[in-house]
Amino acid sequence: MNVIRAVVTIAAFGCRALAAQDGSSEKLAPYYPTPETIVEKMLQLGALKAGEKLFDLGSGDGRIVIMAAQKFHADAVGVELDKGLAKKSLEQIRRLGLEKTAHILMGDLLKQNYSSADLITVYLLPGSNDKVQPLLDKQLKKGARVVAHDFEFKGWTPEKVETIEDDGEGRSRTLYLYRK
Ligand SMILES: C[S@@+](CC[C@H](N)C(=O)[O-])C[C@H]1O[C@@H](n2cnc3c(N)ncnc32)[C@H](O)[C@@H]1O
Repeated sequence: MNVIRAVVTIAAFGCRALAAQDGSSEKLAPYYPTPETIVEKMLQLGALKAGEKLFDLGSGDGRIVIMAAQKFHADAVGVELDKGLAKKSLEQIRRLGLEKTAHILMGDLLKQNYSSADLITVYLLPGSNDKVQPLLDKQLKKGARVVAHDFEFKGWTPEKVETIEDDGEGRSRTLYLYRK
């Protein structure tokens, strides 16, 4: 079932992990945004609370960071390799007046420090999760949560798995909650 989901989603993404952008950083997934309804479910599953620190690994247009700051009153950080997407996110953050609690780090998600995270959100590809996992194993504090969209972390046991049969666009989504 997971293999089928992976194949379908990779096809939907339109390509496999792409070549490095700056020579030293690997593009771990193409831009494929999470629908807003699923973003909210991810943050609810992760039980994000006001004042907590959230990191979205590969933040795209910043929608997870923005909802975390605006609706959940968290201190939210997105890490994004694509300069255009990072810029677009920052513009929207400014437009919404969320500069104090929503931040974008333009850079490689494999080169950051997540030791302050209460919640991590991830929507990458299966092979990319394999690369992120050792970093999170090393850095995350005890009790930190990770919510993964569609692709599980193979070496971890999820505390909860939630399947949304129809995301509003006719697609099924699976969310995995992990706790360190
Ligand atoms: C599938 S999209 C998910 C976007 C967003 N998190 C969401 O759920 O809507 C994956 C994102 O990861 C970014 N990305 C890929 N490799 C990255 C890397 N090494 N460092 C930071 N961002 C990366 C891509 O540019 C893309 O925006």
